[in-house]
Amino acid sequence: MRLVPAGRACLFTTLLFLAPGSTVDISVLVLLPVESSYLFSMNRVKPAIDYAIQNLGQSRLNFSVQYVDSECGNKALFNLVDISLLQKPDVIVGPVCDYAAAPVARLASHWNIPMVSAGPLASGFTHKVPEYSYLTRVSPSYSKMGEMFLAMFQRYRWKRVALLYAEDFEERTCFFTMEGVHVAFSGEDYQMHSFVIYDQEDQLDHIVQQVRDHARIVIMCASSHSIRKIMLAAHRQGMTSGDYVFFNVELFNSSLYGNGSWKQGDKFDLEAKEAYQSLQTVTLLRSAKPEFYKFAADMRNRSRHHYDLTSEDDNVNMFVEGFHDAILLYAKALQEVLKQGYSKTNGSKIVQKMWNTTFEGIAGQVSIDANGDRYGDFSVIAMTEPRTGTQEVIADYYGLNGTFEVRPNVRLLWANGMPPPDEPSCGFTKDHTATCKSCGLGESAVTGIVVGSLLGCALLLAFYLFRKKYKITIERRAQMHEADNGKHHHLREDSVRSNLSAA
Ligand SMILES: *[C@@H]1O[C@H](CO)[C@@H](O)[C@H](O)[C@H]1NC(C)=O
Ligand SMILES: *[C@@H]1O[C@H](CO)[C@@H](O)[C@H](O)[C@H]1NC(C)=O
Ligand SMILES: *[C@@H]1O[C@H](CO)[C@@H](O)[C@H](O)[C@H]1NC(C)=O
Ligand SMILES: *[C@@H]1O[C@H](CO)[C@@H](O)[C@H](O)[C@H]1NC(C)=O
Ligand SMILES: *[C@@H]1O[C@H](CO)[C@@H](O)[C@H](O)[C@H]1NC(C)=O
Ligand SMILES: *[C@@H]1O[C@H](CO)[C@@H](O)[C@H](O)[C@H]1NC(C)=O
Ligand SMILES: *[C@@H]1O[C@H](CO)[C@@H](O)[C@H](O)[C@H]1NC(C)=O
Repeated sequence: MRLVPAGRACLFTTLLFLAPGSTVDISVLVLLPVESSYLFSMNRVKPAIDYAIQNLGQSRLNFSVQYVDSECGNKALFNLVDISLLQKPDVIVGPVCDYAAAPVARLASHWNIPMVSAGPLASGFTHKVPEYSYLTRVSPSYSKMGEMFLAMFQRYRWKRVALLYAEDFEERTCFFTMEGVHVAFSGEDYQMHSFVIYDQEDQLDHIVQQVRDHARIVIMCASSHSIRKIMLAAHRQGMTSGDYVFFNVELFNSSLYGNGSWKQGDKFDLEAKEAYQSLQTVTLLRSAKPEFYKFAADMRNRSRHHYDLTSEDDNVNMFVEGFHDAILLYAKALQEVLKQGYSKTNGSKIVQKMWNTTFEGIAGQVSIDANGDRYGDFSVIAMTEPRTGTQEVIADYYGLNGTFEVRPNVRLLWANGMPPPDEPSCGFTKDHTATCKSCGLGESAVTGIVVGSLLGCALLLAFYLFRKKYKITIERRAQMHEADNGKHHHLREDSVRSNLSAA
């Protein structure tokens, strides 16, 4: 066994202190996919890890890094085990893919090996004890994004939402993204309705119609191609005049995932431009500082010289940045631990030093919460020039203090001057079959219906004043909640089961 008894470990490190020239060898195992279609593929991340290690400065740490293919799947676990038969690594860096990371994180906890990664982003990994207790995530997870939506909804006083996502049954990026929102919202008494797109041509018109009957605020995750089709369908159904708000989650706005612009050079461009006035895009808040530009230039240079990567703008994304900072964080924690006289094999001490801390990353401050997950900062982008169709950042969310701030001087944010209510004044037709089934009747009945529905609304108002509506709403909500739970039971169970079945 490699574990040194505590007494000998102390003696060992004391000896190191006595000999200032000596170094501590650290073996790092990096588990990432070699396949270059990922934003966090080996080719993209390797230069960043090399850069971080080269720039650690005066340090007694002698890193030797082994890069191994995770194949974004079970191979990550198998490779970890195979390598550990010879020698266990001191630290595991990666994987990012949720299904690859889950079993690796379990084994890392079992072996007391710190694991730092710019992923996995799924909410399931928030529950660190007992399975993932050695996992530190240096990129904001989907639950942090969910907290951003929660802060936004509280600000705009929305409590009802449609979640619309594309399901691929493989890496399930959009499923996990929406799960983050769902987890954040289910702590509150919010009404959620989820809608799944199973394939790109999957009757988007029909889905949009269903969304229309259930919610006015829509959070979406799908390819930019599908998003455009959804927005066009919404436009055809009259949902883009300000009563509905659509959010598109596009954390990495990378051209790898397609061109997110309304403008595609086809005959729908004009309609799409109008429709996109109702669309806001949620992305990561990126920061930069002089050091970052040097880093970015170096990354471009290295990938041009050493790797087969040609695209320029995609080289430095959140993952590349995150893995750089993961090395910094680990090295910083390790140095503290060594200084205090513990050994590099004391994984729990090192993990403890990495959590609940703030340090200077390559692009700005990085804060890790007391649970070992990075706080996330996000931006919201919207169209502010309807004529030209240009978009800009209109609001930001800061995870550390949990504030959602609309940028000053943002013009034309809402069509009606303020955020639309999340329900029509008379409720959704599906909810109020008794009071509002008027919709769609002939001209002759209109007057009577207007009076009737006015009376209905007045009655509701009266109920409200007498605080009876409160009770009605609670009951209705409880029913909806049950139905909703049915759908989301599936969602949650899947996420748990998938973690289990990957082991
Ligand atoms: C650093 O580690 C490598 C591989 O373990 C070893 O070959 C090398 O001698 C070490 N360098 C120093 C300065 O200890
Ligand atoms: C996405 O694009 C917007 C506008 O071009 C930019 O402000 C933002 O920083 C980008 N986000 C990411 C994560 O690259
Ligand atoms: C998307 O495509 C449009 C039209 O082809 C182009 O004008 C725009 O610059 C592209 N945007 C990005 C981010 O590539
Ligand atoms: C880019 O890489 C080449 C070869 O590795 C090196 O000679 C050059 O100085 C580098 N340039 C920058 C700006 O880092
Ligand atoms: C790590 O250090 C703690 C003291 O804080 C000690 O209780 C524990 O046994 C050590 N673990 C190892 C593996 O040395
Ligand atoms: C996190 O650190 C701060 C001081 O840096 C401390 O006051 C706080 O109790 C710590 N939180 C946890 C949960 O350890
Ligand atoms: C929250 O943090 C951000 C960034 O650190 C800062 O700009 C903002 O003023 C803070 N807001 C509050 C209310 O403290």
